[in-house]
Amino acid sequence: MIVLGIESSCDETACGIVDGDGRVLANELYSQIPEHAPFGGVVPEVAARAHLEKVGPIVRAALDKAGIALPDVDVVAYTRGPGLMGPVLVGASFARGLAAALGKPAAGINHLEGHIAAARLSHPDLEPPFLALTVSGGHTQIDRALPGFRFETLGQTRDDAAGEAFDKCGKLLGLGYPAGPYVSREAKNGDRSAFRFPRALRGVDTLDFSFSGLKSAVLRLVESRPAEELLARRADVCAGLEEAIVDMLTERALQAGQATGIKTLAVCGGVSANPRLREKLPAELEKRGMKALFPDLRYCTDNGAMIAGAALFRLKSQCLVFEHLPVSPGLELGEFLQ
Ligand code: KG4
Ligand code: ZN
Repeated sequence: MIVLGIESSCDETACGIVDGDGRVLANELYSQIPEHAPFGGVVPEVAARAHLEKVGPIVRAALDKAGIALPDVDVVAYTRGPGLMGPVLVGASFARGLAAALGKPAAGINHLEGHIAAARLSHPDLEPPFLALTVSGGHTQIDRALPGFRFETLGQTRDDAAGEAFDKCGKLLGLGYPAGPYVSREAKNGDRSAFRFPRALRGVDTLDFSFSGLKSAVLRLVESRPAEELLARRADVCAGLEEAIVDMLTERALQAGQATGIKTLAVCGGVSANPRLREKLPAELEKRGMKALFPDLRYCTDNGAMIAGAALFRLKSQCLVFEHLPVSPGLELGEFLQ
């Protein structure tokens, strides 16, 4: 069994290939960060055009890396959402066209399920019951894994996502795009207790999250201090900000464990690459007899292997929805796929 997965929901054009045992044979990616950096955020139209240009070469590169010929692909999986409409459409159309040309089924995959699959690619024995904390640029939620590869959402953000909080606050502090990794790099040299930022919904009986207060707090700070002072103390501000986000995520993880009695938590999505989260959350969970599992760093942010992985895990649980596309006899594969 060979599953090829295409990811194009935001600003990474990615293709991954997994075999029937969940081994990743290839995980190729083109990051559009340089294209969007001058704008300080993702420009959907620019992203869609870049996907269109790169998707063919990236699929070709993944096939070459895996040493797989196109006819050996059994399923063409793709991100069907959530994501930016133009970018999703480019990847979905390419995947479905490829499937039609090959006479193989296509399968649309939920992007968030893809992130959870990334944790299982790195920890093959991750089986329900487990909790999944998905923390990305667009989403923050906690789910309970049900038998098969299915999920029930227990709580989610009421406003911004955790990654969005990193990005927006980092931008206010003059850091580059996306600011999450820059904030965590600065934070390494900072004092985590020099600036205290609010922990929203602390002690409230909910599994929801709220991060928008952080943006207001950082904005107030930026407006109230001289620019030179802020620059000189940027590491401390970043460390305080990172600590607040990590604390809020950790508190919910502990509460979800207590509410469900489930002891294993998979942490996934771009923010799961954050070193402080990877350090503090497992340590706190361990104190309560819980265990946290993170994907390998290369599978934290958007990638194609996670989409192929989610399709494989659904297939094994007999809940993959196949799209059998009409084979078009006249349909020719593009030059890059020959
Ligand atoms: O999962 P992802 O690649 O895309 C979405 O599905 O949104 O996540 C991207 C998010 C961005 O907000 C980025 O700033 C954040 O993940 N991120 C980080 C780190 N690496 C990526 N946030 C904090 N620390 C990091 N090291
Ligand atoms: Zn993502």
